[in-house]
Amino acid sequence: MRISDTNLIAAIEALGIEYRPGVSLGPKTSLEIGGTSDLLVIHKHESLPELIRLLKQAGVPHRFLGGGSNVLLPDGELPWAILQLARREPDVRIEGNNVFVDCAADLGRTVTTCAKHDLGGMEGLIGVPGSIGGALRMNAGAYGTQIGTFVREVTVYRAATGRIEILRGAEINFEYRHTSFAPDDIMLSVRLELPSKPYSEILQGIRICNEKRRASQPLNQKSAGCIFKNPPGGSAGRMIDELGLKGHSVGDARVSDRHANFFINAGHASQADMLALIKDVRERVRERYGVELEEEVIVWKAR
Ligand code: EPU
Repeated sequence: MRISDTNLIAAIEALGIEYRPGVSLGPKTSLEIGGTSDLLVIHKHESLPELIRLLKQAGVPHRFLGGGSNVLLPDGELPWAILQLARREPDVRIEGNNVFVDCAADLGRTVTTCAKHDLGGMEGLIGVPGSIGGALRMNAGAYGTQIGTFVREVTVYRAATGRIEILRGAEINFEYRHTSFAPDDIMLSVRLELPSKPYSEILQGIRICNEKRRASQPLNQKSAGCIFKNPPGGSAGRMIDELGLKGHSVGDARVSDRHANFFINAGHASQADMLALIKDVRERVRERYGVELEEEVIVWKAR
């Protein structure tokens, strides 16, 4: 989406927002799939309500992109202007067992920074790619740890009220890869409360998780992590593997040889390739196991 109204662009820039026309968005996602759009980079959280008000008033459709590690974008010119929080340094402030983090911060870096202050609990999340905001939205989890456990307060732009509000952890529902945030809420910062633990012990936990992950997941390839949620009591990866689908592909979209619930962009896959592969695998799993797999990756459909 190209914003053509120069008055609107001037008003956006006057808010301190960086206007970057025609940005290639694929490289901003871990799948490296996706076309171009105008990108609006938000440097100050406070400018967000006014920015969204301006866009709505001008009838400019928009979407918010987080760390890009769990999203499948459409190709070509996207029909939305894209909003993104600027990365800020330092991202983490620590007071006792409380950790205040900007949602644009990298999840892995946050885990290691906290570890250096003898704050643990999140070791399992170490290799999960993406931002703190994305981890909150999806209630990211791995190796028995989910981020929701540690959340005490979230500062969020609430689409319903058009205001920035602070939600207490207890007011938010954190379930398996799902939360009660509205799709157009935007997470801005969070207060986590982490248990005290010696750095060496945390480091040991991090090493173990890293090893497990390296042994079972295709870390150096372009993916969005697991493509499907696990069905209750089951494993999507195991079912897809048992169907002999490792290496199965549509165009450049391919089921990983290492972990069957990771779908890889093996070259220049399009969104259509990836969606066709998802559909094909889902149908085969349904036929063989009678299980309807639900996508874990967030798919942005242009129409
Ligand atoms: N398995 C196979 N073949 C495969 C993949 C897995 O037989 O190709 C088997 C494994 O041997 C194991 C079982 O399936 O017995 C479960 O596999 P794994 O331990 O790899 O865990 P998973 O259920 O596939 C979940 C999360 C991952 C997370 C790991 C580790 C989901 C959808 N996936 O994977 O999260 O990293 O556990 O805790 O919940 C993600 O969210 O994107 C993600 C990758």
